This record gives sequence, structure tokens and C-alpha cells, in this order.
Amino acid sequence: MVKICCIGAGYVGGPTMAVIALKCPNIQVAVVDISTARINAWNSDTLPIYEPGLDEVVKKCQGKNLSFSTDVEKHVAESDIVFVSVNTPTKTQGLGAGKAADLTYWESAARMIADVAKSNKIVVEKSTVPVKTAEAIEKILTHNSKGINFSILSNPEFLAEGTAISDLLNPDRVLIGGRETPEGKKAIEALRDVYAHWVPVDRILCTNLWSAELSKLAANAFLAQRISSVNAMSALCEATGADVSQVAHAVGKDTRIGPKFLNASVGFGGSCFQKDILNLVYICECNGLPEVATYWKQVIKVNDYQKTRFVNRIVSSMFNTVSGKKIAVLGFAFKKDTGDTRETPAIDVCKGLIGDKAKLSIYDPQVNQDQIQRDLSMKKFDWDHPVHLQPMSPTSVKDVSVVWDAYTATKDAHGICILTEWDEFKNLDYQKIFNDMQKPAFVFDGRNVVDAEKLRKIGFIVYSIGKPLDDWLKDMPAVA
Ligand code: NAD
Ligand code: UGA
Repeated sequence: MVKICCIGAGYVGGPTMAVIALKCPNIQVAVVDISTARINAWNSDTLPIYEPGLDEVVKKCQGKNLSFSTDVEKHVAESDIVFVSVNTPTKTQGLGAGKAADLTYWESAARMIADVAKSNKIVVEKSTVPVKTAEAIEKILTHNSKGINFSILSNPEFLAEGTAISDLLNPDRVLIGGRETPEGKKAIEALRDVYAHWVPVDRILCTNLWSAELSKLAANAFLAQRISSVNAMSALCEATGADVSQVAHAVGKDTRIGPKFLNASVGFGGSCFQKDILNLVYICECNGLPEVATYWKQVIKVNDYQKTRFVNRIVSSMFNTVSGKKIAVLGFAFKKDTGDTRETPAIDVCKGLIGDKAKLSIYDPQVNQDQIQRDLSMKKFDWDHPVHLQPMSPTSVKDVSVVWDAYTATKDAHGICILTEWDEFKNLDYQKIFNDMQKPAFVFDGRNVVDAEKLRKIGFIVYSIGKPLDDWLKDMPAVA
């Protein structure tokens, strides 16, 4: 029986391996992690991540051909194929700080594989890594190999959170990069055979190593670029009276452009877009391509501009101060259907409002008080380390309360900001909410989820990203 092990039981390692176990009953899959808390959670009734459909898949396979363990070395030693899906944070110190990927966790995983291996292995890069990482990993493995053969493959993951299980069951493509040598081709075939259990072979793309590594960074950069493009348009729409949804619809109808990923928002978040683009920018700079680096950097600058613009809009609309005012924040996760808050735009928006001395009451159906307090007190990029290695803040952020329903959050508030597009925010009883708020009552919709006309009829002053402005807002321009 083929044995697979995955180092890293996170958002990628857990769901990816669960689906491999589901679709390949003849393969034994072990997911291992240095975090005991994470592994305990995978082995409990409350999984460490919220992802629709994940519980069912895990329940079906656990105890049969899927296990979660902290015994990293044992499972690595026993496996034929070792996936590595560990954190690849942005460096915060030293060469390339603020841009380059920190490969500490990857390197320590590679050294451990070399240490414990007693048989030949295929080592698969599942984490998103800089181009040419496979070369470095190959060097670490072969210089410590004791005569064992290691084949390195790049198999980047394209799943999106919130839809991870359906993305994994029905991927647009699976990408496998390997060396163009007989051993490299054999390794590619072995991994292709795993995916071929459920993915049509014409969707399994095989390339050289560097194309696979770069394609992952390129795909995330293109996706993020679309959002920054539509968000840049949203600012122009507000200035001109155009409606960004209508513009996006008209633009997306062109089959060469397509309709997806054109929703204007308060900004993109998530663990990867910013990190991967910064990494791409650094690689461009290192390769003597400053113009290309500047081009991609702009995608992040527009994203930061969009968040700042949103905060400024709130403050300027509310008589240029939110000091001491209660603002209800609806939604904290970086998108709906996940409890993940990594790089969520809510962090920057909340920090901006706290900077202007607002009192925040935050509600998100999937994010708890602990997480929100950690996020608001953590330094940039510190979140992307294994949980037990993250610096803990000694104090919680004052002026922030976290509540468990939207009505408590909005009671007596001066304004509401919608920062995640949870479906339940569409159908709240806004008349009741209006009655319980201070007047004038404002709604700042950073995700275009509410029916603005209906809310205006109730009496709210409404700001929707990229939509024609209320007269009230027109008179109070948000200068970023
Ligand atoms: P994560 O933080 O959820 O999981 C990483 C896990 O690796 C953690 O549980 C950590 O404890 C563990 N770990 C770190 N070093 C280890 C070691 N030496 N030995 C054993 N375990 C170790 O991260 P994630 O979201 O799963 O992302 C993992 C990688 O996949 C990153 O490179 C990311 O860029 C990439 N990726 C993420 C997504 C996503 O949607 N989250 C999608 C595609 C690609
Ligand atoms: C993204 C990519 O979609 C995945 O293909 C990739 O594997 C993953 O990054 C990764 O490498 O980590 P994810 O971050 O989970 O997936 O979620 P997305 O659906 O891409 O959303 C990212 C952010 O963009 C969210 O904050 C979302 O609200 C925002 N967004 C998305 C918009 O503002 N507008 C849109 O039209 C789409």
C-alpha cells in the first residue's frame, strides 16, 4: 500500500489530505504537525478550521486510511510520498524583510526528512514558495542523504477557503512540476496516479519545476490584480456617479475578460494574496526587473488605498470624528464561509477606527473574541507562524468588544460597517436595528451586501463601495 504523509496540518494540509484519503482508499494518509493543539483538534469533534463539507470527509476516512499525528518523524520515515505544507511567512527581519518569503519552516522540514529517511522518497512542495526553492530543497536533501534518492516535485495548491472541498473534488487543474530526468518523470507519474483517482487526466498539467512554482505566484497575482482593478474603478465610480456593479457586469460580459473576481470590496484579504505578491516583487527585484516589481507592487498599494479610503469615508461622514462613538462591525473574517482572519481587511479598518478613538462592537458568526483581540494586537506578518510560536500580546485592545449577534453589536451604535459578506447580513431586521441606533444612523457597506435603497427608505444614510453617493456623503469627500 502506498503511504503518503503531509507535514503541516493547516488550511491546506488538512483538507487536501482528507480528500486524497477519500478518493484513494488504497492509500494510507497521515497528516502530521508540530502543533499538538492543532493535531488534538483534528482528532476531536471540533476541527481546527471551519470549512463547509470538511467534517463529513474527515469523519468518513479517519480511523480507516486517514490519521492526524504529532509523531512527525515516524510517519515521514514510513512514507513513499511526503507533502510539505508548512507556513511560508513574509520575512520580518534581515535580507528581504517585508517582502521575501521566510523559508525557516520549510528548511527545517527538509532537514528532518533527510535525517529520518531510510528509503527513497518523493518530496512534494505543497506550500507556496519562491521560484527555485526546489533547487535549495534538493541541495539540503542530497547533501544529507546517506545514499537515499529524493525526487522533488512542485504541486502548488489552488483551493480557495470556504470552497476548499468542492475545489479539491473538482479542480480546474492540478499542476505538477518536476525534473525532466527519468527519475523526475517517474516521480511526476507517481503523483499523477494519485490525482488520477478522481481528476480527469487532461486537467493534470505536468511542467518543469520552475514553471510550476512560478505559476502559483502568477495565478494569485492575476486574481488579486483583478480585485485591485475593480476596486480602483470603484473609487472612480464614486467620483463620477457610475455604479461599480454595473461597470463590472458590463466589463465581465466580454468573454475575454469573464465575470468572476470582479466584486468591488473594502479590499482583499486572506493569508496568501499579499504575501505571494510581495514574494513575487522580491523575486523580480532580485532578478534585476524593477519595472516588473513596481507593476505588481501597485496591486498591493491599491488594496491598502481601498482600506484607508473606507476608513476615511466613515470618519468624514460622521462629522469628521468617531471619537467615543460606538461603531458596529459586522463581519471580521476575510471572506464569508470561513473563520479565517489572516490579513482580513477588517484588521486595518478596525485599527483605523480605533486610531480615531471609536468604540467598536464586533460580530462575526465564525470568529471569537480571542482571535479578534490577537489580530488587533499582533504586528504585521506575525500571524503567519505556527500558533504556539506566535508572540502573545500581554494586553487586550481597549475600546473593542466582541459580541455574539448583530443586534447586540448595533444597539445604540452611531454607525455600522459591513466588512464580510456573510449571507445573514442581507436579511437582518434593519428596521429594528435603525430604531435601536443613534441618529443619524449610518451604514457603510464594504461588501455591497445590503439593499441600499430599502435601507435609505428606513432612514439610514448608506455608503456602498463604488455606488452613487447619498447627498450627505457627497458633501463630505473622503480624502485618502
Ligand atoms: P497553516 O498555518 O494553516 O498551516 C501550516 C501548518 O504547518 C501549521 O499547523 C504549523 O504548525 C505546521 N508546521 C510548520 N512548520 C512545521 C514543521 N517543521 N513540522 C511540522 N509542522 C509544521 O498554513 P496554510 O494556510 O495551510 O498554508 C500552508 C502553505 O500553503 C503556505 O505556503 C500557503 O501559502 C499555501 N497555500 C495556502 C492556501 C490557503 O488557502 N490557506 C491555499 C494555497 C496555498
Ligand atoms: C485565494 C485564491 O483564490 C486561491 O486560488 C489560492 O489557492 C489561495 O488564495 C491561496 O493561495 O491561498 P482565498 O484567499 O482563500 O483563495 O480566497 P479568495 O476567494 O481568493 O478571496 C481572497 C480575498 O479577495 C477575500 O478577501 C475576498 O473577499 C476578496 N475578493 C474576492 C474580492 O474582494 N472580490 C472578488 O471579486 C473576489
